[in-house]
Amino acid sequence: MTTTLTSALKQPRRVERLVAGKPTSDGAGVKLTRVLTHDLQQRLDPFLMLDAFGSDDANDYIAGFPDHPHRGFETVTYMIAGRMRHRDSAGHEGLLQNGGVQWMTAGRGIIHSELPEQEEGRMEGFQLWLNLPAKDKMVPAWYRDIPTEEIPEWRAPGVTVRVIAGMAGTAGAGEQQVAGAMQRDHTEPLYLDMHLDAGASFEQALPPGHNAFVYVYRGSLSVGDMPVPVQRMAILAPDAQSDGVRVQAGDQPVRALLIAGKPLREPIAQYGPFVMNSQAQIFQAVEDFRAGRLG
Ligand code: FE2
Repeated sequence: MTTTLTSALKQPRRVERLVAGKPTSDGAGVKLTRVLTHDLQQRLDPFLMLDAFGSDDANDYIAGFPDHPHRGFETVTYMIAGRMRHRDSAGHEGLLQNGGVQWMTAGRGIIHSELPEQEEGRMEGFQLWLNLPAKDKMVPAWYRDIPTEEIPEWRAPGVTVRVIAGMAGTAGAGEQQVAGAMQRDHTEPLYLDMHLDAGASFEQALPPGHNAFVYVYRGSLSVGDMPVPVQRMAILAPDAQSDGVRVQAGDQPVRALLIAGKPLREPIAQYGPFVMNSQAQIFQAVEDFRAGRLG
């Protein structure tokens, strides 16, 4: 076991609670685990949902997500294994695979499909829903496909952190921070995929007011003295004095997501794939969808 002798953090965050995801299915019958569920939207503002999908059985994913609308937020799809093609109503399409990310701002509206482009083998990844501030909910739809080689990495012995969004690392002890592939105003999201060898540890700076959680998808780790097993989300306590989080791998390699963001503190009104601030805006979204005004 290696241990970190010096810490750049004065007061690392504790785990507030551990959450087991809920097995469910979505789209045309894709089996997945909803890690961040509806009842956690206020607590984990600005994040609305996190789905984890992972299966070697094509029956669990082959139906995919045929044409469906979105309005009012962003979707971040991170593909660990497998191939998924997206096509949208604006005529764009792209292939998501092997560690790549699609960052999509649904804004005022988009209709798209997300369909597996494989008939066998492993399909594994995550879809995160990130809210938009009220003033940006009706911006034009936009997306960026980020191939795996364009995702920056923060590295130290035994540690590789893929930096999808935000700034990785701490500014302490002469350390260099690494800027992620995406930066966002307002919600200031941090999205890290941490790969730690057995016994390795990693420290990440977090602004005190930001909501943050860790999701372990291989092996297990500890946050402070709290063990976090595989397929569990650890919600980190937002102590006013805290300055970051420290994760420590056990005696096996571990992979985990660390996701954090600045809360919007605005009303959340959701109806399926529409997330707005009021019921009236939801009715409008449904009406616009039915009238063909969403794509
Ligand atoms: Fe979608």
